[in-house]
Amino acid sequence: MTNSVIETSSLTKDHVSHFLRKRFRVVDGLTLTVERSETFGLLGLNGAGKTTTLKLLLGLLRPTAGSATVLGFPAGDRRALAKIGFLPENPYFYSYLTGSEFLDFAGLTFGIAKQERRERAEQLLQLVSMSHAGDTPIRKYSKGMMQRLGIAQSLMNDPELIFWDEPTSGLDPIGRRDVRLILHKLKDRGKTIFFNSHLLPDVSEICDRVGVLHKGKLVGSEKVSTVTGGGGYQNLEEYFLECVNCEGAAR
Ligand SMILES: Nc1ncnc2c1ncn2[C@@H]1O[C@H](COP(=O)(O)OP(=O)(O)OP(=O)(O)O)[C@@H](O)[C@H]1O
Ligand SMILES: [Mg+2]
Repeated sequence: MTNSVIETSSLTKDHVSHFLRKRFRVVDGLTLTVERSETFGLLGLNGAGKTTTLKLLLGLLRPTAGSATVLGFPAGDRRALAKIGFLPENPYFYSYLTGSEFLDFAGLTFGIAKQERRERAEQLLQLVSMSHAGDTPIRKYSKGMMQRLGIAQSLMNDPELIFWDEPTSGLDPIGRRDVRLILHKLKDRGKTIFFNSHLLPDVSEICDRVGVLHKGKLVGSEKVSTVTGGGGYQNLEEYFLECVNCEGAAR
């Protein structure tokens, strides 16, 4: 039995611009494997195609060419989605709900029983240091509070596989540290984690392996321990910068 949780083969996505209906390639022939219990960081400059890749893996977008399987099912299959937690880049919340009500709603969509939903919501609010705000309407939340709630909702179904798009976006230094601690806890529990980030020190601390996406192409994929320990690079930043300078040169 394969140990791969995510497998893509020549995954490609074109968008069509409204102006002159011109096609442009956003994800270009991406072939990638993520193993069970691995923490994988997808890096890339703004517009590199990271969020689009995540959406393809979740089945929110259909590929123009190529394929992706997630947890042994084609991307977007409901059987896989039930075991996935997702934090979108720009999470949207029903602002008239309180944080606890929103988590309850998220649990309901996964078919979790009432008592269990309540317990999980309480535990997760505690995990993201939001217990004090569980009964506050979301419209009164700051950006960082919404991000913390987004992280909590992504864990309501105790997922096997976690997709987080910029989990530390909008968080203060304590929030960033909290997210790192949560990631370590999830890693210790054997979860598979795939996340996009620009914060290379955090990625370096947490990830087992990174991929570097540049103009839709995978221009680097390496174990963090190899990059930072004897790989000829001082740190992940140096590796990242070399990859994006070597455009198109798959390593
Ligand atoms: N729905 C869409 N229609 C047309 N173009 C799109 C659409 N979504 C994204 N794009 C384009 O695709 C490219 C990749 O976008 P994507 O959001 O995947 O980048 P990213 O790597 O996540 O960037 P960032 O670091 O800024 O979040 C960009 O040029 C973007 O403008
Ligand atoms: Mg993005």
